[in-house]
Amino acid sequence: MLSCVCVLLLAASALSHLDEAFLDDQWDQWKTTHRREYNGLGEEGIRRAVWEKNMRMIVAHNEEAALGMHSYELGMNHLGDMTSEEVAEKMTGLQVPLERQRSFTMALDERVSKLPKFVDYRKEGMVTPVKNQGSCGSCWAFSSAGALEGQLAKKTGQLMDLSPQNLVDCVTENNGCGGGYMTNAFQYVQENGGIDSEEAYPYVGEDQSCRYNSSGMAAQCKGYKEVPVGDEHALAVALFKVGPVSVGIDASQSSFQFYQRGVYYDRNCNKDDINHAVLAVGYGISSKGKKYWIIKNSWSENWGKKGYILMARNRDNLCGIANLASYPIM
Ligand SMILES: *[C@@H]1O[C@H](CO)[C@@H](O)[C@H](O)[C@H]1NC(C)=O
Repeated sequence: MLSCVCVLLLAASALSHLDEAFLDDQWDQWKTTHRREYNGLGEEGIRRAVWEKNMRMIVAHNEEAALGMHSYELGMNHLGDMTSEEVAEKMTGLQVPLERQRSFTMALDERVSKLPKFVDYRKEGMVTPVKNQGSCGSCWAFSSAGALEGQLAKKTGQLMDLSPQNLVDCVTENNGCGGGYMTNAFQYVQENGGIDSEEAYPYVGEDQSCRYNSSGMAAQCKGYKEVPVGDEHALAVALFKVGPVSVGIDASQSSFQFYQRGVYYDRNCNKDDINHAVLAVGYGISSKGKKYWIIKNSWSENWGKKGYILMARNRDNLCGIANLASYPIM
């Protein structure tokens, strides 16, 4: 009996020892992979503590997922040394206007009752590669550019990167890296007479003065439509009939920060606190019968599932996915 306890104690301490060494090793690897250098041991200590907390949360979540308690898995990524608050502060940037113009709401007669089970515009050549907004609150510009890229491809058959920097620098109604709103971007492109290509006006991820040059213009816009607030069916109709749709979501949960695969569902997500703009590029249903939206983010291909996340569909408007959806008319 006694030896049994001793053995158990030994095993437990060996495990926790291994755990520490394992974590040290993982931390060193993570710093190398993501080329992190810190200003002294003080800062490194703080960052290591944040990283370790994230790492333990990820491991615990995945253990629960293996037991069937979650429909998705998490994974460590380049955001590992940031808290969810820091991510929300630095890497989102959606500002919801206080007064919203509702006269551009998508007409009800555009609705259809029969929708295909699967829509994926990546397969139609209507979605450009995943980008990285960096530490600039320009999600709204990537979301808007993505929706315009979809319409450009649909209209001309040509898939081309459009310039989020053009929008960051020139949409005076918005706040550049300080945040903004997609319909203001569509309206700017309409009034400006176009948007430059990424090639003509490359992304720098900082506020600059407006350098729009019509010789680099790659797409135009005639206006925009908004999806009826909170209506996931209308969002599906818009996706099916129009193409990729700009959407706002609550991206402040650490489960979102470290999402890796599966159908995302976190009931702590607040549909009334929309803080991040992304691009809906389709929808579908998993082999386990879970319906999802296919969402393109702008946190690089190292985030999520090669830059994408599958978010639960028809689950009480999860994260407010249908609360702030709009698309440009080309
Ligand atoms: C616009 O681009 C063209 C072609 O690259 C260039 O010749 C012209 O100087 C540019 N105009 C401005 C105002 O920068």
